[in-house]
Amino acid sequence: MKYRPFGKHGFDCSEIGFGAWAIGGGWGAQADTDSLAALNRALDLGCNFIDTAAGYGNGRSEKLVARVLRERAAAGKKDKVFVATKTPPGPGLWPPSPYCQADERYSEAYVRANVAERCAYLGTDRLDLLQLHTWTRAWNRNPTPFKLLRELQREGKIGLIGVSTPEHDQNSVIDLMRGGWVDAVQVIYNLFEQEPAAELLDVAKECGVGIIVRVVFDEGVLTGKFKADTRFPSGDFRSVYFAGDRLGRAVQRSEAIRLDLASTGLTMAQGALKFVLAHPAVSTVIPGIRNVAQAEANCGACDLPDLTPAVLLRLRRHNWRRAFWYAGK
Ligand SMILES: NC(=O)c1ccc[n+]([C@@H]2O[C@H](COP(=O)([O-])OP(=O)(O)OC[C@H]3O[C@@H](n4cnc5c(N)ncnc54)[C@H](OP(=O)(O)O)[C@@H]3O)[C@@H](O)[C@H]2O)c1
Repeated sequence: MKYRPFGKHGFDCSEIGFGAWAIGGGWGAQADTDSLAALNRALDLGCNFIDTAAGYGNGRSEKLVARVLRERAAAGKKDKVFVATKTPPGPGLWPPSPYCQADERYSEAYVRANVAERCAYLGTDRLDLLQLHTWTRAWNRNPTPFKLLRELQREGKIGLIGVSTPEHDQNSVIDLMRGGWVDAVQVIYNLFEQEPAAELLDVAKECGVGIIVRVVFDEGVLTGKFKADTRFPSGDFRSVYFAGDRLGRAVQRSEAIRLDLASTGLTMAQGALKFVLAHPAVSTVIPGIRNVAQAEANCGACDLPDLTPAVLLRLRRHNWRRAFWYAGK
């Protein structure tokens, strides 16, 4: 495993972090035994960064993370693991509309209660990093939720403050970085979604903001393992995400990436991870991991040789301006 500075925040994070959405639920059947084994394997391989959220199985993911850390400490392991979690906005539209009020969706009483719940589920009295799970640029000029989080930081309840970009408008967080409101940003950046290279990543570097890259495999298709007729089990959100002709279109494009990676000897998953890690603003990439094999494959990728400038140049052409699919077709 290799490590990088997490922005200007004085600690080094593993290049490969652990994306803990699927172990919470929403991706079809997932046995806790597999999740616990995957977390333990990733930590044994040097991963020291875990990303979870309140919403991943209503705390199931957070509780599994807490259990693993507790059991490892009891076993005498000296890991120093950084856990990032998220508070969603209170009830209402997702993503928030331009007319939503920040003080209603992230009210002080709600955020304080939610932070207390995150601490309880994670078995800690101080969160390493609390990210707001989504945002709208409508709130940028008076970002009251971040003023409140700075207060919670001063009270010692939160270490760092972050935001996870709204998929449809990732650049909305750039002003927050420039204004000094966020210590970390979680962003979608992958072989299909290269727009953050236009500005967001450079601004993060300039401002010393930690960058956490999510969805490196575009929910699995960039590993090259799907076919146009792959079907997802019920309870797997990908049956909506890849609805209609979407999977076929994504598979066709991923096959073109396979050709561009052929000379490297890397698998597509390794190539996808290495592409993201080639950007110097990236602190950690958090592939979703659901079993030991994925922990080993993903953690192992960072020790492979970096992509050459010629290959990186070729991979730029796979940027795909397709808009976002989370709301289904
Ligand atoms: N709004 C937000 O803040 C937000 C949104 C999305 C994600 N996230 C965070 O980002 C993390 C990563 O995103 P993601 O999990 O949605 O998507 P992802 O990393 O693009 O894809 C993860 C999925 O790919 C498959 N996979 C993982 N490693 C593989 C490998 N080496 N070879 C083949 N298949 C592999 C697994 O699913 P299968 O084995 O079932 O195919 C896994 O669940 C999440 O876990 C979460 O922590 C945050």
